[in-house]
Amino acid sequence: MLRTALTLALTATVAVYGATFDVTFGTAGHNVPSTLYGLMFEDINHKADGREFFDRVVTVAFMPNSFKIVHSNKSLPVNATIFPCTSAALNSWAALGRATISVVKSSSPVSTALPNALSFSVASGTTGTVGFTNAGFFGFPVTAGFIYTGSFFYRTPSPPAREVSGTFTADLRSTSGTVFTSTTVPFTTSSTWQLATFSFTASSTQTSVENLFALSVNATTVAGLTMEFTLISLFPPTFNNRANGFRLDLSEVNVSQRQNITLLSSDSPEGTASPFIKLNVAVINKSLPDLEGETPAERWAWENTVGDLVDRPGRLGTWGYVNTDGLGLFEYLQWIEDMDMQPIMAVYAGAILSSIPYRARRFSLDGESVAEDDLQPYITEAINQINFVIGDATTNPQGQMRAAMGHPDPFTLNYIEIGNEDFFSPATYTDYRWADFFNALHAEFPQLHYIATSATSGFVPTLTPAPTFWDLHIYSNPNFFINGAFNFDILPRNGLQFFQGEYACMTNNAGTDLSFPFIDGSIAEAAYMTGFDRNSDIVFAASYAPLLQHISNFQWSPDLISFSPNTVIPSTSYYVQKLFSLFKGDFYLTSTTNTASSPVQWSVTRDTASNQYFLKVVNTATSANTVVFTLSFTPGSTAGTGTILTAPSGTMNTPTNPNAAVPSNFSFTAGKTITYNAPALSLSVLTVVG
Ligand SMILES: *[C@@H]1O[C@H](CO)[C@@H](O)[C@H](O)[C@H]1NC(C)=O
Ligand SMILES: *[C@@H]1O[C@H](CO)[C@@H](O)[C@H](O)[C@H]1NC(C)=O
Ligand SMILES: *[C@@H]1O[C@H](CO)[C@@H](O)[C@H](O)[C@H]1NC(C)=O
Ligand SMILES: *[C@@H]1O[C@H](CO)[C@@H](O)[C@H](O)[C@H]1NC(C)=O
Ligand SMILES: *[C@@H]1O[C@H](CO)[C@@H](O)[C@H](O)[C@H]1NC(C)=O
Ligand SMILES: *[C@@H]1O[C@H](CO)[C@@H](O)[C@H](O)[C@H]1NC(C)=O
Ligand SMILES: *[C@@H]1O[C@H](CO)[C@@H](O)[C@H](O)[C@H]1NC(C)=O
Repeated sequence: MLRTALTLALTATVAVYGATFDVTFGTAGHNVPSTLYGLMFEDINHKADGREFFDRVVTVAFMPNSFKIVHSNKSLPVNATIFPCTSAALNSWAALGRATISVVKSSSPVSTALPNALSFSVASGTTGTVGFTNAGFFGFPVTAGFIYTGSFFYRTPSPPAREVSGTFTADLRSTSGTVFTSTTVPFTTSSTWQLATFSFTASSTQTSVENLFALSVNATTVAGLTMEFTLISLFPPTFNNRANGFRLDLSEVNVSQRQNITLLSSDSPEGTASPFIKLNVAVINKSLPDLEGETPAERWAWENTVGDLVDRPGRLGTWGYVNTDGLGLFEYLQWIEDMDMQPIMAVYAGAILSSIPYRARRFSLDGESVAEDDLQPYITEAINQINFVIGDATTNPQGQMRAAMGHPDPFTLNYIEIGNEDFFSPATYTDYRWADFFNALHAEFPQLHYIATSATSGFVPTLTPAPTFWDLHIYSNPNFFINGAFNFDILPRNGLQFFQGEYACMTNNAGTDLSFPFIDGSIAEAAYMTGFDRNSDIVFAASYAPLLQHISNFQWSPDLISFSPNTVIPSTSYYVQKLFSLFKGDFYLTSTTNTASSPVQWSVTRDTASNQYFLKVVNTATSANTVVFTLSFTPGSTAGTGTILTAPSGTMNTPTNPNAAVPSNFSFTAGKTITYNAPALSLSVLTVVG
């Protein structure tokens, strides 16, 4: 993900106000691929790691030389020193009663992956209640009816001669101590690690998310003891009840206590019907020791993200915050399968990206790359990663790992992207990395499609072997997207297929960064997307990026969907994606050709099974324009249904005004001629029965 330097010769937008556009369409056209409108998923903006996106409301894995930082924020160091075994790691943790907590390297760690622990000490003679609390990741939502499940590991490094037994109390409480839900968890002193599991149900919904998770115990029971804890985890219900699963409200509807919106799920009529998720999980910082075969702790290596949570070391993520990798490759694949989608999986292809934070990295494009002679381990790693997804469950070692995690059947996998934005190191990508990866992977998995990663400029790749699939990324301003509606029309039909894997209107026309998508930019994206419909003979997939943003801590804006612990804010661009996706159709009908500089763009598609025609009209102007459609047939019904997204210039859906612009329905009279007055800054979809 990078704001590209991609520049194209553009003509200035000529505002034509109050014009009439005549559109005629017949029966000529081409199929629209089922993959056309999908989603892009990269761990940025805290969308994935451990606690928030998939709502592990607190999971604390005490990482290598480190400690999970639950309240990570921008003022904390973003380099590898984020894993200190120091009190900094106690951010958001607090002792309860007369107890002492600290971070220690355990003398007998729960696993090699997780060497650190929270040490909890209670002096002899202490009375009352003691324990510790955690403030969650910007809070804990408490939702009536939700069953929360939790677990933690504990041990007593120097147990008393006579075993001590007692009960911990696990609860969710307000910061002032009002307990909303709790349960007891029996324990016995032992020098070996014990796993405790528990669950409780909230009976009320709290409007405030500033709540605490607490683990407490009668001080008399533990007086004089020191105990260690690690991998402390608490989950609300997850999508499809998956372990380490995803937040319900970001995955599907049916959470009446929260918001009734299906955001990402494909199988609901209210969903975006998205066919794929592009997984940018492989782009990582490889430090130089890597070239000699060492693996820095922060590297995204798929093997470190699968298997038991206790064996996942986590890493410093590409975007400068700690990833537990509790959301690992298996969980991603499971989620995608549960949503009836397919992955487009990126594999690491030897580019060395800096782990410096976004603002600095953005202007530092001079990446290095792994030398050709040293590439083989990474090619093997990519082969193993693919085998984890599709390898035979009985004969292939990685397939066996997948089967051991409960999924003997291969996952669906059709597309592999070799690298991601490897124009950081363009020369080596064209010199050897593309060829070496492509040749090796293609030989091993000839049935898969291989996508070459983004270009620095222009659209025509010069790679050998010539790729069949090519990923393009573009972040720009409204005028770029309006003028770019015909970018794909001029490309040769020579077998090359395009994936607009990332795109978003990121600034206004004056170049000012946007905090949230605004209607002007979203409508400009819609104008650009009519070009996807029209060119879907060569554009096989497209995904807006980034997908998700934690509003309390993020590295990039604007984003498709913003969220807090208990709210979800779909942007104006989300609704554009949703409408294109819902009204995608399966056949594009050629219509009157427009011009790139026009303020009005359109596309016409048909859904064969339902015999419905979708007339998408995008008016990017700040005043209305009229479009006259002349159909090649008389509609089967005069009752036309329309859906429109429109709002005054500058409108954004924000945390304080989340529904500033949402689509609404209308009806119109359908005839052989349809005259539609498209309001200023609007995307309309007119549905006509054939
Ligand atoms: C971020 O963390 C620093 C260091 O722990 C702390 O001083 C600061 O108050 C935190 N800021 C926010 C907004 O939480
Ligand atoms: C990590 O970042 C901090 C703050 O920017 C800096 O002081 C420190 O030197 C860095 N450490 C390393 C190992 O890069
Ligand atoms: C703790 O346990 C002791 C001994 O059983 C009991 O006397 C005391 O009341 C308990 N304290 C609390 C706070 O429950
Ligand atoms: C909604 O979710 C609950 C809990 O997962 C489930 O029991 C219920 O059947 C679901 N309702 C619908 C209409 O899907
Ligand atoms: C969500 O849907 C349920 C069931 O249809 C309804 O009772 C509830 O009021 C809705 N909640 C919101 C926030 O719209
Ligand atoms: C990758 O990260 C390591 C450790 O944080 C750092 O020393 C190294 O400079 C980074 N590599 C690049 C190419 O930025
Ligand atoms: C708009 O129409 C669609 C069907 O085309 C329907 O599914 C949806 O519920 C309607 N929305 C509203 C807000 O009425």
